[in-house]
Amino acid sequence: MRTLIAANWKMHLTRSQASGTAKELVGQLEGNLPADREVLILPPFTSLEAVSGAIAGKSGFSLGAQDFYPAEEGAYTGEVSPSMLLDAGCGYALAGHSERRHFFRESDELVAEKLVYGLEKGLHMILCVGETLEERKSNAVKEVLSRQLRSALDGERVQNALATGLSVAYEPVWAIGTGEVARPEDIREAHAMVRQELTALLSGKGEQTGILYGGSVKPDNISQILGIDNVNGVLVGGASLKADSFSAIARG
Ligand code: PGA
Repeated sequence: MRTLIAANWKMHLTRSQASGTAKELVGQLEGNLPADREVLILPPFTSLEAVSGAIAGKSGFSLGAQDFYPAEEGAYTGEVSPSMLLDAGCGYALAGHSERRHFFRESDELVAEKLVYGLEKGLHMILCVGETLEERKSNAVKEVLSRQLRSALDGERVQNALATGLSVAYEPVWAIGTGEVARPEDIREAHAMVRQELTALLSGKGEQTGILYGGSVKPDNISQILGIDNVNGVLVGGASLKADSFSAIARG
């Protein structure tokens, strides 16, 4: 399984900033990346083309989108479809990021629809799950992760569409953008729970599904995080916006 090092740029960087950062990353990482690592950049929609140009033909680099609407085309003002993303050079997309779940009130049902639709269209989907601080304090981590995974992954439609690729990102909500990293034992425990659910849900494919950790990943904690059982990559927000820090993470 390849280790996926993903940069979630969220609502940051203009086209020229995005293309400059992507070019710097290519300059710093091309030829320096361990063979089993893949760098994925998830810029805002407006910068997809700029980043696609900067990483074109560079091995080990991929492009993805932070979101989409699950329909082919139509009267959905403000939205972008998976076909449009594929056309823009994307191979990956996120579903269920905690900012979408919380700021934009995305339900488990909508996340499930996005996940299966994206897979059916040929995107490698990264399903994001994770508990809030309140849920952790009330010992509900397992229950929350099970609910989020089962609602998105249970069912024949998903089983039939898995060939295009699926990853899960465990991102405790309280560790996103806060500088607070989950303790190694919390990460180990949560990733083991995710692995167990995946094995139960995805007949035969649960073991091959990558599980990323996300939440205040930085150059100084990356090697410890990547050393934890069942951590197959990372999803990085804040520390991915500067080429120097993200390339240190990608090499770390
Ligand atoms: P962060 O964000 O690295 O800034 O905590 C992670 C994410 O939201 O994917």
